[in-house]
Amino acid sequence: MTMLLLLLLLFCSATADHGGAIFSVTDYGARGDGKCYDTRAIQKSIDACAKAGGGRVRFPAGGDYLTATVWLRTGVVLDVEPGARILGGTQQRDYPEDPARWYVVLAESVRRVGITGGGEINGQGEAFVVRRDPRKNVMVSWNATGLCRGDECRPRLVGFIDSADVVVADVTLNQPAYWCLHLVRCDNTAIRNVSIYGDFDSPNNDGIDIEDSNNTFITNCHIDTGDDAICPKSSTGPVVNLFVTDCWIRTKSSAIKLGSASWFDFRRLFFNNITIVDSHRGIGMQIRDGGKVRDVVFANIKISTRYYHPSWWGRAEPIYITACPRDQSSKSGSISDILFVNISAVSENGLFLAGSEGGLLRNLKFKNVSLTYRRCTTDPGDIYDYRPGCGEMVKHSTAGMMMEHISGLEMENVKMRWYHSHFKGWDNPIQIRPDTVDKLSFKDWESEIVSKKDREFDKC
Ligand SMILES: *[C@@H]1O[C@H](CO)[C@@H](O)[C@H](O)[C@H]1NC(C)=O
Ligand SMILES: *[C@@H]1O[C@H](CO)[C@@H](O)[C@H](O)[C@H]1NC(C)=O
Ligand SMILES: *[C@@H]1O[C@H](CO)[C@@H](O)[C@H](O)[C@H]1NC(C)=O
Ligand SMILES: *[C@@H]1O[C@H](CO)[C@@H](O)[C@H](O)[C@H]1NC(C)=O
Ligand SMILES: *[C@@H]1O[C@H](CO)[C@@H](O)[C@H](O)[C@H]1NC(C)=O
Ligand SMILES: *[C@@H]1O[C@H](CO)[C@@H](O)[C@H](O)[C@H]1NC(C)=O
Repeated sequence: MTMLLLLLLLFCSATADHGGAIFSVTDYGARGDGKCYDTRAIQKSIDACAKAGGGRVRFPAGGDYLTATVWLRTGVVLDVEPGARILGGTQQRDYPEDPARWYVVLAESVRRVGITGGGEINGQGEAFVVRRDPRKNVMVSWNATGLCRGDECRPRLVGFIDSADVVVADVTLNQPAYWCLHLVRCDNTAIRNVSIYGDFDSPNNDGIDIEDSNNTFITNCHIDTGDDAICPKSSTGPVVNLFVTDCWIRTKSSAIKLGSASWFDFRRLFFNNITIVDSHRGIGMQIRDGGKVRDVVFANIKISTRYYHPSWWGRAEPIYITACPRDQSSKSGSISDILFVNISAVSENGLFLAGSEGGLLRNLKFKNVSLTYRRCTTDPGDIYDYRPGCGEMVKHSTAGMMMEHISGLEMENVKMRWYHSHFKGWDNPIQIRPDTVDKLSFKDWESEIVSKKDREFDKC
């Protein structure tokens, strides 16, 4: 396991020690009453701390520190004590003019920064819900000025842009209005023991978005949110060396998702010991913009997936690996050298493995994989979901594994078990699009139907 050794070595380098002086926001006039803005006091404490050569800015226990955007400086770690909360403002004037900088806490072009302390940062996401809907909430959009277009104009919670040596540890990130924790072009980031809670029905409240960043280590995370939980993206550069271990995830979208922004490459990604429950999709790759994915390992992962409203991407696939051009002007991208080992899944739909004519899936390996299929909702299923783009939703019968445009797929000790269902076409183990798949190999592969009497999987 050279991969694990590499992980440990790199992990040690990511846990930089942040010593130095302590500055309390209350000494700079923060009230912590949750009503008056403490923005100026917080920013003054951060600036004083940075000027003194770095250290900690403490948010004492018991306070609710309401704030507009605050900027972290080099060498400064926010120490939010247990019971203390940083509350993000809910007015557009609380945020800078540029929508790319709409964050409650923002670090830009800095080093040796972080957030820790056992407390909470809260985006007050509830205030951004215009209308509750158990299928999908309707949200506020700050698009009136035209600087941001569409319906995704809401502030993110915490962002690190063009920064290095970042640590986020032992904190709760609660109720983001939009994405929760966002890394952009960062290098050497450790995210440890972070809990993320977003509204299950609110769109775009992603957990952790790792964009164009290298050497990212995520351990012991707990994510329960509406949208994609751990989501590497490549918009202006590649994502290299991402290690995610010991995490628990529940989401109405993908638990792990590469893309769909995928202009550059994704290389050396390692996901280990992850539990995914009640999600719309387990492991997903939506490569749509020409990027190449290679050398990715998924090990020791438990997954359960089910159908939710189709306005959310995902069709209960435990594993969804796709590469196809987003639209006519996009390039294909490709996916190769992917290993799935020690995976067990319980799901309402099968695996979806689809390359495209110009973007083959190459050298996929499945080892020690146990797949249990059971229906627990009344959703008719029977749809292949290529979104975004690439044919969108296509009516088709369900299969344990659907494969198209693949060269090289090895299965070793892969077991499928099917629970009885009255849905038509149920329990077909493998569906291959003719003339698009070669170099398949099966060893110790089986598919069996479980007796009708066993009802343990009837409910979701
Ligand atoms: C602004 O957001 C609203 C609400 O989501 C949406 O219906 C509308 O199309 C958006 N308008 C523009 C110009 O982006
Ligand atoms: C994880 O963080 C929580 C606060 O969010 C803290 O109470 C707990 O002690 C931390 N666990 C470890 C192992 O440090
Ligand atoms: C990540 O590494 C690649 C080389 O592998 C480099 O091109 C890219 O600039 C790096 N990105 C960052 C943010 O350091
Ligand atoms: C796997 O991760 C969980 C946290 O999600 C942790 O409690 C458990 O100890 C880990 N297992 C191993 C073998 O490391
Ligand atoms: C898979 O699980 C077995 C135990 O069931 C363990 O021996 C093996 O090391 C695991 N493989 C990986 C790559 O973690
Ligand atoms: C598959 O599982 C067997 C039995 O638990 C284990 O011995 C083997 O190491 C596993 N394979 C891999 C590649 O981890």
